[in-house]
Amino acid sequence: MSAVICGTGSYAPGYVMDNDRIAELVETSDTWIRERTGIRQRHIAKAETTTYMAAEAAKKAIEQAGISPEEIELIIMATLSSDIILPCSACEVQKEIGAKNAAAFDINAACSGFVIAYNMADAFFAAGQFKTALIVAAESLSHLTDWTDRNTCILFGDGAGAAVLKNSPGKHFLSVTHSDGEKGWTLTCKNRLGTNAEGEKFSREFYIDMNGQEIFKFAVRKVPELIREVLQKNGVQQEEITWFVMHQANCRILEAVARHIGEPSWKFPMNLQHYGNTSSASIPILLDEINRQGKLKKGDKILLAGFGAGQTWSGNILVWDM
Ligand code: COA
Repeated sequence: MSAVICGTGSYAPGYVMDNDRIAELVETSDTWIRERTGIRQRHIAKAETTTYMAAEAAKKAIEQAGISPEEIELIIMATLSSDIILPCSACEVQKEIGAKNAAAFDINAACSGFVIAYNMADAFFAAGQFKTALIVAAESLSHLTDWTDRNTCILFGDGAGAAVLKNSPGKHFLSVTHSDGEKGWTLTCKNRLGTNAEGEKFSREFYIDMNGQEIFKFAVRKVPELIREVLQKNGVQQEEITWFVMHQANCRILEAVARHIGEPSWKFPMNLQHYGNTSSASIPILLDEINRQGKLKKGDKILLAGFGAGQTWSGNILVWDM
């Protein structure tokens, strides 16, 4: 038995910010951003909250799965940009969509979040604990972006993606997840203003701060290793994989990974040109897009790979069954 996707959904805020608009805020250009990242525009949340976007994506996934919200037994929400700290976003989404019978909780594994949520739901299924799950990833990264820092503000965007999973007969694939806390400094977003137990105020930078070159090197080194490990662990040959669905960070990262493993870049679908890097939401937004475009065929083997802050990187194989 293994988790299969039976519905996908996504949501992107209505406001679109192109590279020319960013060039009005910081010293950069549309050409520089396109050539170094592949990004042309990003969606930016204005009225939309993280919960709202997540719930909209979830409703579309549930509708496509043809189930009622009451049938969902588990909701795992991946986010690093929840609107509030308590209650958790997954419970807020549960309330919004009326999934009264679900257990719900959040995880924060940055850009690996959706893949790790998938792995967790799959592990719960394998343990016999749940049979139907909603995994949803949503980010309002624009709220955590320093719009005067050209290292980061060119990259990120807002949005949400979701998938309904069911436990189905078929080969069970084993996931791979790694973390390296020693490299946590490469991508951070520290606490907001607070007060400690002695009543002393502390203030720290709370914008996303990134060493782009370190992250780039990390991704290009670790993601090919991750792909090989996932394949080897599951006894799957690389040529059996139809699609490599990767976190959408930078087109140069995706192209370098494809080159390293000797695959054509068309097997690495890409939509970061429209959305920027939406962290945990990038993989489910992309999955929903290629699903609704009819690109995924029953029986396709899809290798998922997420990587990002932590540092964390995680992968798995799923068989398309819709
Ligand atoms: N616009 C214009 N010029 C810029 C710029 C910007 N936004 N950012 C940097 N530059 C300049 C630099 O000052 C430097 O100029 P110099 O050569 O005169 O010194 C030059 O462009 C190259 O800078 P560099 O930092 O080496 O660029 P890069 O090729 O590494 O690209 C990133 C920068 C951020 C696009 C790239 O490192 C990257 O994508 N890293 C991964 C980030 C990521 O994926 N993060 C999320 C992980 S989940």
